[in-house]
Amino acid sequence: MNLSVSFCGMKLCNPVMPASGPLTGDDKKMLAILSHNVGAMVTKTISVKPAKVPRPCITATSNYVLNAELWSEHAWQTWHDEFIPVFRQQSDKPLLVSLGYSKEDLEFLVPKFAEAADAFELSTHYVADDPELLSDLIRAVKVHTDRPVFIKLDPSVPEPEEMAIAIERAGGDGIVAINSLGPVYPLSVFHRKSPLGSKNGFGWISGPVIKPFALAMVRRVASATNLPVIGTGGVSSADDVLEFIMAGASAVQLLSSALIRGKQVYSEIIDELPKRLEACGANGIEELIGAALNSNKKESHEKRSPIVDHLKCIKCNLCVQICPYDALSLDEKVSVDESKCFGCGLCQSRCPVKAIEGVLF
Ligand SMILES: Cc1cc2nc3c(=O)[nH]c(=O)nc-3n(C[C@H](O)[C@H](O)[C@H](O)COP(=O)(O)O)c2cc1C
Repeated sequence: MNLSVSFCGMKLCNPVMPASGPLTGDDKKMLAILSHNVGAMVTKTISVKPAKVPRPCITATSNYVLNAELWSEHAWQTWHDEFIPVFRQQSDKPLLVSLGYSKEDLEFLVPKFAEAADAFELSTHYVADDPELLSDLIRAVKVHTDRPVFIKLDPSVPEPEEMAIAIERAGGDGIVAINSLGPVYPLSVFHRKSPLGSKNGFGWISGPVIKPFALAMVRRVASATNLPVIGTGGVSSADDVLEFIMAGASAVQLLSSALIRGKQVYSEIIDELPKRLEACGANGIEELIGAALNSNKKESHEKRSPIVDHLKCIKCNLCVQICPYDALSLDEKVSVDESKCFGCGLCQSRCPVKAIEGVLF
């Protein structure tokens, strides 16, 4: 099975890499992630000054992470003189150096890392979501490097398609979609405050809960340009990787699932990929890139009603309780009132034993 992907002159042995964050926050951390066979490495975002990170700065549940982290707490010089050279001694896998934030910061930093990086990933998290400003920033940076420049999109960008086109026209080489979403406000009723140490207790959300949003962003930017897209946001399984690939991504990044479950998530997902590719009838990752982009082009209004497999049904009554149209009832068995059923699909998606079909697929 061929897991490799190639884009912007880089060849990755598989499409999975860490997303910028604390798990790639220095040389030892990068090497620890590397031992999980990732296809490429991405540094924590480096800026002109070390970040003064509020604490506590990470809190998580099983399906999301809230963070109040900023960029790297280490000086760019430490990255330049120590962390990246140590990483380079032990790995020739593609290294994406994540830098932020303003045009001035980047004009200073990019030349410093132009030799060390295989590609740059520029974080736009703290700068205006203005296509003009971003284009200006990309043009300024490209003067200083011949390495591919990826722009990491902030999820709050109002018109991702417009932004993607601006990135392409300004000479950007690729897009990473998306960063964590916010602000969000975790509030403890008992303590009457947020657990996060940031101002107002606000943070950003990431992890499985943002995956559908991230997938939509990937489809939107992949449809608007020919640039390679790296999908990021909520990946927690091999199937998630394939969803991003089908939505138009050439590779994926993940962080929160590893924060929630442990770093072995990277190797678990990579090991699972061949089996899941086979289940999709594919011989390699690259043949699935954008495979969903021609689907769902038009709105559908065809009503399809649920078909209940009574042999599988365990009569748990969940579908009856949740039906928004009161179309289901349970007597001896679950029955559907066709005159009430709206064909919404909720019952099929929530049936715990997959005894309902016919509405969604
Ligand atoms: C604790 C934490 C720290 C992060 N730090 C950075 C960062 O320094 N630079 C950056 O571009 N994104 C940062 N991110 C965002 C992630 O790189 C990623 O885009 C986002 O979390 C979505 O992916 P995920 O759901 O797999 O985590 C951070 C996310 C978390 C949870």
